[in-house]
Amino acid sequence: MPHALIVDDHSQTLSSLAELVEREGFTTARARSLQDARRQLQAQPPDVILLDLHLPDGEGMSLLDELDPSSSPAVVLITGQASVGTAVEALRRGLSDYLTKPLDFGRLRAILGDVAQTRGLKQEIGALRSSLASSGSFGLLVGTSAPMQAIYEQISRVAPTNATVLIAGESGTGKELVARTLHDLSRRRHGPFVALNCGAMSPTLIESELFGHERGSFTGADRRHKGVFEQAMRGTLFLDEVTEMPMDLQVKLLRVLETGVFTRTGGEAPLALDVRFVAATNRTPDEAVGDGKLRGDLYYRLKVFQLTLPPLRDRIDDVELLADRFLRQIAESEGAEKRLSPEAVKLLREYAWPGNVRELKNAVYSAYIMASTDLTPDCFPPEVRHPDVAAPPIDHGLAVHVGMTLADVEKRLIVATLSHFDGSKTKAAEVLGVSLKTLYNRLQEYRKHGPV
Ligand SMILES: Nc1ncnc2c1ncn2[C@@H]1O[C@H](COP(=O)(O)OP(=O)(O)OP(=O)(O)O)[C@@H](O)[C@H]1O
Ligand SMILES: [Mg+2]
Repeated sequence: MPHALIVDDHSQTLSSLAELVEREGFTTARARSLQDARRQLQAQPPDVILLDLHLPDGEGMSLLDELDPSSSPAVVLITGQASVGTAVEALRRGLSDYLTKPLDFGRLRAILGDVAQTRGLKQEIGALRSSLASSGSFGLLVGTSAPMQAIYEQISRVAPTNATVLIAGESGTGKELVARTLHDLSRRRHGPFVALNCGAMSPTLIESELFGHERGSFTGADRRHKGVFEQAMRGTLFLDEVTEMPMDLQVKLLRVLETGVFTRTGGEAPLALDVRFVAATNRTPDEAVGDGKLRGDLYYRLKVFQLTLPPLRDRIDDVELLADRFLRQIAESEGAEKRLSPEAVKLLREYAWPGNVRELKNAVYSAYIMASTDLTPDCFPPEVRHPDVAAPPIDHGLAVHVGMTLADVEKRLIVATLSHFDGSKTKAAEVLGVSLKTLYNRLQEYRKHGPV
């Protein structure tokens, strides 16, 4: 049962509050002074403290600084109308909420409902963390290395709150998976999780995607469109690649974050926003600000809480665990069970994984396809087997499109690989997985039709 500590020097208020809180399914402890309250805190750490502003032996607020940060109960200040200014100030100091007298019971009940739910979440998170050693994972996130444990610790603290979170980390480190986990471990878990990739939208479309628009607000707007702010109501909005959002829109987003209201394009009535924001970037946020890709003021607003995911090369002890997990998942969908050979494990631990977990997952999948029984080193892609010949960086993609022939694609790949290795045919052949002779033959063929 959740537990509440009620601190008020007025006995009548104290007992009527206690009764009400008990009716909501809480056990209660009562205190009439700061000293009393400290004793009660020792006796049983509460999930929520209802705190009177003025007490005979000091200010109620001074308790805030004495709380054990690891238990972090919700603290609700109860104040007379006159001291709303103080209460607002107190919110900045970590207070959860405040209520003015005479009390609005509906609001108190809503606050207590949140506290009870948060307690349930905290218990669930506690269970996830204590099963880490046996399961090797924290929910969907696989890994037991020290850097990942630090991430789980941060997720555990921030998930149940409404704080905006900025997730930074190289491509493929699991930012989207972390965003999902934050949602699943929040009070909003039954609401929607909406993801918007700001990098994948044209600058003109993105505003309408965020804010939505009213019918007739521009040519072609033939009906009202709900933007992602509205789609994510009572849930979580994941703004992926937030640095790719045009600057003028970053200003508008900041305004929405600060005021908690937005207006559909072409609309008049501002709508209240009940959305938790999680943003992600694979750039280093400070550099993105320096390069003029991310507005400084938006950055400070987003990074109320910042999570920086470690690259896979900094948690190499997780590689085997991840590879095993992926292998099991593949075996489940493909049927045949296959294992990693000890030599393959060694190979995977030695590689630097520039594409992080995503690259590992893909490498395991392709090795699974190549392997007849065990996954041995030679089943893995060439860049994993020959890291010394410098795998091309992941963004060294080639433009391939429908309409090209296989021969075209092959030619492009061969020419690009050769140029990457400064014309070294031996290295190019090795990475392409063909014999030197085949490579020579192809090049001769191409030269017939012009210079390569
Ligand atoms: N800790 C992890 N445990 C299990 N799977 C993971 C983990 N981290 C990442 N993955 C998997 O790796 C892939 C890439 O993860 P995700 O899409 O979350 O990365 P990202 O950081 O968002 O990458 P990008 O910056 O390229 O968008 C996904 O298939 C995801 O499920
Ligand atoms: Mg992503």
